[in-house]
Amino acid sequence: MDNTEEYLLEFKGFNFERSLVKIHIVESADDFEIRDDDVFIITYPKSGTIWTQQILSLICFEGHRNRTEDIKTMDRAPFFEYNIHNLDFIKMPSPRLFASHLPYYLVPKGLKNKKAKILYIYRNPKDVLVSFFHFSNWVARLKPSDTFENFMEMFLDGQVMGSRWFDHVRGWYEHRHDFNIQFMSYEDMKKDLRSAVLKICGFLEKELSEEVVDSVVKQASFQNMKTNPQANYHDITKYELGVRNDKGHFLRKGTIGDWKHHFTVEQNERFDQIFQREMKDVPLQFIWDINEE
Ligand code: A3P
Repeated sequence: MDNTEEYLLEFKGFNFERSLVKIHIVESADDFEIRDDDVFIITYPKSGTIWTQQILSLICFEGHRNRTEDIKTMDRAPFFEYNIHNLDFIKMPSPRLFASHLPYYLVPKGLKNKKAKILYIYRNPKDVLVSFFHFSNWVARLKPSDTFENFMEMFLDGQVMGSRWFDHVRGWYEHRHDFNIQFMSYEDMKKDLRSAVLKICGFLEKELSEEVVDSVVKQASFQNMKTNPQANYHDITKYELGVRNDKGHFLRKGTIGDWKHHFTVEQNERFDQIFQREMKDVPLQFIWDINEE
């Protein structure tokens, strides 16, 4: 028997994780008042959200950078629709940072034609799929899969939190002119984090000294985040969300091309065909291999 509905809540054609989503926030998103200096990090799940939350928190908040404030990244740049700590967004001081997996058509209307900025991070979908597969088998609130093949089918069918990857990325890309949006890829961040941080600073109109940029880059590295409990969500996942075993990590591998260790030749060909068909009109650049230029 298929028990997908136990885990997913569908609203206007988009799948949310059922037990964590604050659906009233989504239902009333149209009326949510956007401030000019709000910044939204928007991603499809497993595309580098936590990483970007950390980078933006480090860029925007000196107290976060110097570790003088004791606020978890999760609360510095909270999830909009998964507001698990029930923060009062209206009382949050400016500039507010938010993270979200929403599709373009469900975000607050105020984001359209406003100065509020959106940073859209995308990742090559084969690595997203692999990361999502491991994450779903670790976190108790997501539907586990016996085999990679089973998860791949659910992913391609959009029967996962975030629905179809193709619809998410294409939707945001095709509607980019409605928003003040910057697209960046996980792989660009991975290959040259310093340049990525400088690009984000440019988009946010933030001028930071060389020294501060160095500090942001250092604290946003995979190794540093992995050992910083404020940044790596390990405890939140373990104690607040629930996990199936002690072996998993939110920061799992943090690399490009792990899909090569999971896809069979046939699965790869099938995936490529779908990718070509779905993404042929989307000129975003994808990097599939760590050694690719
Ligand atoms: P892997 O499972 O491939 O390791 P999200 O935050 O959107 O759920 O994305 C999680 C993915 O981003 C995980 O991928 C995680 O390891 C990776 N990630 C998080 N922080 C990172 C960092 N500083 N550098 C590289 N990858 C990072």
